[in-house]
This record gives sequence, C-alpha cells and structure tokens, in this order.
Amino acid sequence: MLHTAHGEVPTPVFMPVGTAGTVKAMTADAVRATGARMVLGNTYHLMLRPGAERVARLGGLHRFMDWRGPILTDSGGYQVMSLSELREMDEGGVTFRSHLDGTRHRLTPERSVEIQRLLGADIAMCLDECTPFPATEAEAAASMRLSMRWAARCRAAFLPRPGHGLFGIVQGGVYPELRAESVAALTAIGFEGYAIGGLAVGEGQAAMFAVLDGTLPLLPADRPRYLMGVGTPADLVGAVRRGVDMFDCVIPTRSGRTGRAYTRRGVLNLRNACHAEDPGPLDPDCPCPACRNHSRAYLHHLFKAQEMLGPMLLTWHNLQYYQDLMRELRAGILAGRFEEAAAAAEAGWAAAPD
Ligand code: GUN
Ligand code: ZN
Repeated sequence: MLHTAHGEVPTPVFMPVGTAGTVKAMTADAVRATGARMVLGNTYHLMLRPGAERVARLGGLHRFMDWRGPILTDSGGYQVMSLSELREMDEGGVTFRSHLDGTRHRLTPERSVEIQRLLGADIAMCLDECTPFPATEAEAAASMRLSMRWAARCRAAFLPRPGHGLFGIVQGGVYPELRAESVAALTAIGFEGYAIGGLAVGEGQAAMFAVLDGTLPLLPADRPRYLMGVGTPADLVGAVRRGVDMFDCVIPTRSGRTGRAYTRRGVLNLRNACHAEDPGPLDPDCPCPACRNHSRAYLHHLFKAQEMLGPMLLTWHNLQYYQDLMRELRAGILAGRFEEAAAAAEAGWAAAPD
C-alpha cells in the first residue's frame, strides 16, 4: 500500500498517463471509474504550457484537472530527450527548445523539483538522463553517474512534506555492474521510493527482465519500486512477478486512440474489416461502456468515420482492462496465488499475442 497526501493506493498499481493535465480522451471521473487510483503528470509539458506557476496560482494540478487522488510527476529529463529540439546537456542541467514554439528553456535538478512542488505532486521524480539504447558501457556509466549527481541535488532541493515523496531513478543501461552502482548511490542518498529507468527503449523484453532480475533484489524491500514507461500486459505480469510495484505507460491510451484494443483474449484492431458486421461485444467480460453498450461493428464504424467517440471508448476500454488486470494480480498476491492469476491472464492472450 502506498500512503500519500491524497489517499492510499494498493499495489501493484498502474498509473494512466495524464501528460498535459488530462488523460487524453477521458474525464477525471471516467479515469476513476476504470479503477485507477493514481495518475502521472509531466513536468516537461506542464512547464511549457500552461506553466508551473500558473498551475500553482490556480490551486495546483489536482484541482486544475479535477483529479482528487495522488499524482506522480515525471521530472522532465526523459521528455526533453524525446520531444524537444536543440537540447544541450551539461553538468548543471539541460537547455532545450520547446517543441511547441521553439522558445529556450532550462531544466536543472533544482528547477525540476521546484516545478513538481508547484504542481503539487504527491510523488516527484529526480531529474535524470534516460540513457539511450544502445549505449557502450562507458557511455552508460557516464550518463548514469551524471544522473546520480543530479539525484543528490534533487534530494537537497526537495522540501519534505507529510504524504509527499521523492523517488530516485536507477540507470545504468543493460550493464549489471552499473545498475548495482546506481542502486548503491541512490540508497546512500535515501529516497521514499526507487524507480527503474532507462528500460523499454528498444532493448527487448528479455533484456528488460534480465535488468529487473539483477536490480530489484538490491533495492530496499520496504520501499516502492516503480518501472518507468512500461508496458504491455505481458510486461506488467513479468515485472510484477519480479517485484515491481508501480507502472505507467501510454500504451493503453495511445493505442486506444488508434483503434487497438487490449482484451482478455489478446489484442484486436477495430479498424479491421472483420469487425464490420460483428454484433458481439469487444470483450464480453469487460464492464466498460464500450463493451457493455456497443458492438464491435459500431466501434469499427466509429474509427472508419473518424468519430471522436471511437478513441474515447477504446481509451476507456484499454484503461479498464489494465486496471482489471492489476486488480486480478493484487488479488492473486493477497491469496498467495500470484502464479495462478498470472497464468489465467497469460492463457487468455495466447490466441492473439501483441
Ligand atoms: N520514463 C520512461 N523511462 C524513463 C527514465 O529513464 N527516466 C524518466 N525520468 N522517465 C522515464
Ligand atoms: Zn471494455
């Protein structure tokens, strides 16, 4: 259980991504109705638009987006590297041009922590560099050590408040010695929780699980572990099996907007003609409005006609599926039957793996 200023969250937990102060295509009430108890927000997007100080003047991100549960904010480093133009990294921080209007901005460990405080994040993340893949061992070491120096500066800049926490981010690429060095550096500083970063960047599931196998046993058992930016349902089951407590990923929301549905029977693309006259539900076992109220044929029609209800309904469905999966894994853990819960989920996908 995570205890935060905005309530308790049973783990393992999947956090829908609310990048720009909205889980795309969903009202906050709808996100809550899927079973989600915690969402993610992004320093990078919100600092550029509408600005962290503006969000603070308007009462903070919870009020701004009408999300009453806990919010975790990412620190911005990862999004700068993936979205911004002309970024320059130095010891002090990163300077970049906005992908929105080309204006120049600088993010330092201190400013990232300040922005996350202004947003009102229950959990703030250290500014880090997500080491690209592939990277040589020397490149991964230099990148990870910079992130560790930034982590110490983030810790020093973070003002402790009850129910609020700062997480360190383990880096080190696919190199076990570097991952161990990163864990040692972060645990010496001390954080409320620990994230595993730098994964799901092209290394593949086997390499990702190998990093988790090597890293998770080194982390303190009494602190939450958060695997950043992961993943498919199969990734989540494998990572929970290895001891991960928290996840965020754009897969359910982004793929929902393009017509891809994650179900108990695997992945479907509603744009495919095979659904055009199918009167049956997307997933008969799913309680979401797409499955309760509509046929596959209707969902197919919405995507063919480019109606915005299509992305809305499939986003809801995919988030519902991710939340139901996590609930089933939590129930399995509590009953001492995790492997039965995992096998039930995995058997269902066998027909149509992603
Ligand atoms: N999201 C996915 N991977 C990462 C990472 O390595 N660092 C940060 N800050 N966010 C991420
Ligand atoms: Zn559904």
